[in-house]
Amino acid sequence: DEDGYDLWLRYRPLPGRDDLARQLSHIVVVGNHAVLRSTGAELSRGLSAMLGRPVPVQDGAGKNAVVVQVGDLAAEGFTIKRRADRVEITGGDERGALYGAFRFLQHLQRQRPLQGLDLADRPASPLRMLNHWDNLNGSIERGYAGRSIFAWDELPGLRERYVDYARAIASVGVNNTVVNNVNASADFLRSERLTGLAALAGVLRQWGVRLWLSANYAAPITLTAGQVTVADPFDPGVQKWWQDKIDEIYRLIPDFGGFLVKANSEGQPGPLDYGRTHADGANMLADRLAPYGGKLVWRSFVHEGFSDWAQYQYDVFHPLDGQFHENAVVQTKNGPIDFQVREPVNPLFGGLPRTNQMVELEITQEYTGHATHLCYLVPEWKTVLGFPTYQGPGSGPTVADVVTGMAGVVNIGDDRDWTGYQLGAANTHGFARLAWNPRLSADEIVTEWIELTFGLDKQVGSVLKAIMLQSWETYESYTSPLGMGYLTYPLGAHFLPDPASTHNLSHYTTSEGTGFDRTAVFPKLYADHWRDIYGSLENCPDELLLFMHWVPYTHRLKSGKTVVQHIYDSHFDGYERVLEFRRAWGRLAGRVDAARHADIAATFDAHVVEAERWRDTIVSYFYGYSRILSTGTEWLQV
Ligand code: GCU
Repeated sequence: DEDGYDLWLRYRPLPGRDDLARQLSHIVVVGNHAVLRSTGAELSRGLSAMLGRPVPVQDGAGKNAVVVQVGDLAAEGFTIKRRADRVEITGGDERGALYGAFRFLQHLQRQRPLQGLDLADRPASPLRMLNHWDNLNGSIERGYAGRSIFAWDELPGLRERYVDYARAIASVGVNNTVVNNVNASADFLRSERLTGLAALAGVLRQWGVRLWLSANYAAPITLTAGQVTVADPFDPGVQKWWQDKIDEIYRLIPDFGGFLVKANSEGQPGPLDYGRTHADGANMLADRLAPYGGKLVWRSFVHEGFSDWAQYQYDVFHPLDGQFHENAVVQTKNGPIDFQVREPVNPLFGGLPRTNQMVELEITQEYTGHATHLCYLVPEWKTVLGFPTYQGPGSGPTVADVVTGMAGVVNIGDDRDWTGYQLGAANTHGFARLAWNPRLSADEIVTEWIELTFGLDKQVGSVLKAIMLQSWETYESYTSPLGMGYLTYPLGAHFLPDPASTHNLSHYTTSEGTGFDRTAVFPKLYADHWRDIYGSLENCPDELLLFMHWVPYTHRLKSGKTVVQHIYDSHFDGYERVLEFRRAWGRLAGRVDAARHADIAATFDAHVVEAERWRDTIVSYFYGYSRILSTGTEWLQV
């Protein structure tokens, strides 16, 4: 079906398949483990479809086999080797073998040669995790691709789609998934829910994916109907409740990943309600998960009672460095605000050297255009992961060096194409590929995704790549000037422009100038190198200027333009680029199957409308305050 359902796992008949079929006649799986059986099944499915004849899993090697085995390699790593009469896929463990098999299939999908094939790879970090913000009623917080794919009330009944979900995420190396919203309903921990979730965990397990749950910190109160009256982590009754609950979970789900907790933020309960710290709260759970090999992930996204929330997370968590136990991980959003199109890198990545930390990225496009504006986020994520903290020797370590894994708030829903618009799947793929290897370039990752999704047509490849790689900065250019961010209504859908509603929250716009002067404190949360750069009007990079400084409209940027002229020009240029995206995609008609071409063309139509709305709203807002006419452009000449 040409409706996006297959994502990047499109096993279409290959040119030269007869020759390939002679060299790849069957599959041999050495060992008997559920993940290895999935590996064999996936190879059989993919090879049969691509080679146009059945490629079965068989016993006993023989010539022209694809042999899957486990060998002495790093955990989750693999090698793929073309031997004289067979192909050998060796994993460091069963997961490694599965990842090797998917990579081999992708190699063939991309029509790379079998001859001389000799590949080795392994993941950069152990936690490659999705966060679903899915609720019990089937809605998804910040989801733009339909309802939850998880039919909670049908469990332990299973849907076929769970297998395709697991295949898709395993194919790019995701090994952990949190299935429910961080604004967690305690009901997910009820015994009757857990039996159902055990069935779901069973499907995921076959594809090497561990199931996690978001836990509500007040669950002991909620689920005992008030028999337990507090959620204080130091209270013996509370501790016993969690101990029993964790024992129960592991009886049902022996490979349960652990809990993700959002506490004392945006109205969620937490240890601070009882005078304890975030570390106290996290450790109480971590200690009880540890004997089972479970982990506790605790979010640092807290913002309550602040004047400038950019510094709040740092103020709360930095003093706790070194206090979190070994199997506890602090999960930190990439920036200090909330997934804006551009933010400085969260200073906490340099501020918790003695704490396990994961970076949380938002795959779902909450502030970056939902499923309407194309915004390929890999280039943004690259800037985060490559950010040198200057806390160690030289300029290092980078964020990628610091973290023990990556979590992505995922964009998946039950829409047929999974992600609400077809190009959105590139973000899902790209997140996972970066979690596997943060050193891959955006160019490499997007090329891979395009080839897997649309094939090898050169025109499609170069046009789509150019569009995708420009799309993040394009979105930025017609929405948020110079790092200002947060120009949507703060309590709403975060889609339409509403700069007036965040006046004095993300910007202090007057008739004289705009921006947010954060120089008193915020730059000092970084190493001296960044403190000096961000704190100085001369050195602060243009793209973060209005995040760090308040400036008059006539302040000159490094480009030589005034700030207000930059706001006008970037919004008009950005809109023009979206028009060009639409035209360029239109020219690919005939090179992409008609159904997908039309579907994506319709998304660009909607994108153009929304980009125009952003341009006009932001430009008139700043014209309204500054009353400065644009120079050198026709549109505002009087
Ligand atoms: C944002 C988002 C919320 C979400 C929160 C979080 O504020 O708008 O919907 O719950 O982040 O990450 O916890």
